[in-house]
Amino acid sequence: MSQEKAPQDTCVLVTGGAGFIGSHTVVELLEGGYEVVVVDNLCNSSEKALDRVDQIVGEEASQRLTFIRADVCDKDALDAIFEEFPIDRVIHFAGLKAVGESVSKPLEYYSNNLGSTFALLETMRAHGCKSIIFSSSATVYGDPDELPLTEASPKKNATNPYGWTKWMIEQILMDVAKADPEWDVVLLRYFNPIGAHESGLIGEDPKGIPNNLLPYVAQVAVGKREAVHVFGDDYDTPDGTGVRDYIHVVDLARGHVAALAWMNGRTGCEVFNLGTGNGTSVLQIIKAFGEACGHEVPYVIDPRRPGDVTANYADCTKARELMGWEAQFDIADMCRDSWNWQSHNPDGYGA
Ligand code: NAD
Ligand code: UFG
Repeated sequence: MSQEKAPQDTCVLVTGGAGFIGSHTVVELLEGGYEVVVVDNLCNSSEKALDRVDQIVGEEASQRLTFIRADVCDKDALDAIFEEFPIDRVIHFAGLKAVGESVSKPLEYYSNNLGSTFALLETMRAHGCKSIIFSSSATVYGDPDELPLTEASPKKNATNPYGWTKWMIEQILMDVAKADPEWDVVLLRYFNPIGAHESGLIGEDPKGIPNNLLPYVAQVAVGKREAVHVFGDDYDTPDGTGVRDYIHVVDLARGHVAALAWMNGRTGCEVFNLGTGNGTSVLQIIKAFGEACGHEVPYVIDPRRPGDVTANYADCTKARELMGWEAQFDIADMCRDSWNWQSHNPDGYGA
């Protein structure tokens, strides 16, 4: 149940907290005075990310961080966590997120993403904790009829199992909040998070060939790959390449802290877009990254990638008006910080 509490009296369980967005959010939470328990099975991350978080926040704040290696689908493990720690709120990042892989492994995606959410919600309820922020995605808007996208824009059919898991978990959480007015639920629809912490100590560390544009561009820039493959230059956009709303991962992380402060003492279910409101094309990103790293980033034009939409970007008025949150960083900042991370950690946390 949602109780109004100051950050220093609030214990936040962060599932998937060793991952890309999770680790940046844990930094902001610790710096904001919160007590943080991370649960992660490290299936797509490294414990080193949390050691680096300790380094960033310093000794005093790092004492407020506990890491537990466990699977969020494991109800017994979750139960033990809720027994041991006085969890007030949950931020649920844990999930599998590779769109292409979800098409070839639908069962694994539905089972992990839905299974972890069910285990989490049932354990929370059993322990009287009914306050959750969920990592949703702009993917729920599908191919938009109108831009910018507001929270009232229609949800469309997903084009892959990953997208369906986000769509379904949103619906499940809305139904849970409707059935029991003690719940407070915030659904955050992320646009395209990129960049890294300005320290260069934490960042995105994809395993294998990156699926997403920015890590791929960064690996080309650092010399690990030959050229960026631009997926289509015949879209109906100013330069023919796909347009997205890229948001600095630190801005996104701060959006979670703003959401925690906003939901403090409230109940119900609310949806927020987290983006910048600006659309940037693939070629604009490649050019901006070249400026950040000091040399041009080579690219080739390939056919369109199936399932990609032409353009999407957010209207973030609601987050600004209700939570007082607004993105601060621009594309140049995002590329600078991404390059700083990539150039200092060419092999990610594996180095
Ligand atoms: P990530 O893979 O870096 O982080 C997810 C973390 O969850 C990883 O550390 C992984 O080990 C952990 N995890 C997965 N399944 C688990 C389980 N069953 N038990 C315990 N831990 C588990 O991904 P990210 O980019 O940080 O994304 C975080 C969340 O945001 C995900 O839910 C993702 O779908 C969502 N999201 C991401 C993007 C994006 O572009 N990165 C966009 C929209 C939404
Ligand atoms: N792109 C390339 N080459 C690449 C990778 C991507 O040209 O190697 C292009 C894509 O075609 C697209 C843009 O770069 O136009 C961004 O692609 P990403 O794969 O980086 O991101 P998406 O917008 O496809 O997907 C991301 C997340 C999803 C999330 C979605 C929500 O990966 O998890 O945003 O909008 F669902």
